[in-house]
Amino acid sequence: MKPPVAIIGGSGISNIIKGQRLTVGTPYGPTPPLTVGELEGKKVIFIPRHGENHSVPPHKVNYRANIHGLKKLGVERIIATNAVGAIDQRLTPGDIVIPNDLVDFTRSRHNTFYEGPPVTHIDVSEPYCPTLRGVLTSANGSSGHESVEQVVMACTEGPRYETPAEIRMLRTVGCGIVGMTGAPEVFLARELELCYASICFISNMAAGLQNSLSAQEVEDRGRDTTRILNDIIAEAVREIPDRRTCPCAKALASAQLSKPERARGGGKIA
Ligand code: HPA
Repeated sequence: MKPPVAIIGGSGISNIIKGQRLTVGTPYGPTPPLTVGELEGKKVIFIPRHGENHSVPPHKVNYRANIHGLKKLGVERIIATNAVGAIDQRLTPGDIVIPNDLVDFTRSRHNTFYEGPPVTHIDVSEPYCPTLRGVLTSANGSSGHESVEQVVMACTEGPRYETPAEIRMLRTVGCGIVGMTGAPEVFLARELELCYASICFISNMAAGLQNSLSAQEVEDRGRDTTRILNDIIAEAVREIPDRRTCPCAKALASAQLSKPERARGGGKIA
């Protein structure tokens, strides 16, 4: 059987897979209960990012366990769903966006698998997998939605929403959408050479662009959008090519310093 595709469910996104439920142990702790099933004839794993019943806030999600657990199950591709606020006023609640870049404003999260040797610096010149972004963008297009291209996501620490001044700053640095769960998830996936792309739904206009924000509104908008998102994800899963030709699969090759050549004479430096 081909390697499974994983779907990470964010706020308001319910499980679209029926199948076997299991929890995976990792060096970082257990994953939340996952569902292993099928979609479009392919093996698919659904993982609820915030745990069962949405009990884990964004800054406390065990991102390392979630990504490591998926790797352990043989996953090579991850489609993440994220609820986001719109900073770019061309976007409105209900819109769907496939971001192409991200700015990480988080502060308290475990953001790497490489805490010691080998010292590892992964390249994130293209943080999202180009192949997965491509299939998600065309699936979004064929569902009748126009995609705003080149949208940068800001990932804030949360769990509070932003102030209007913070949103003005994020706009100034080029961010079009804002959420709390994009990082370090995308970077951890790259560190394990997994393809990762995000499909975001706009649940609200960001702070200062509408009167006030409510968590219920985000949840409700997720529920309204779930059916459309599910259709787009199903089409994307069907269209994912079998072979990986993107750079994600070889991310570590250029990320680690090569070991110093052992000098002749016992390695003593003259
Ligand atoms: N800000 C941060 N995270 C969010 C928002 C927002 O406006 N909407 C949904 N998640």
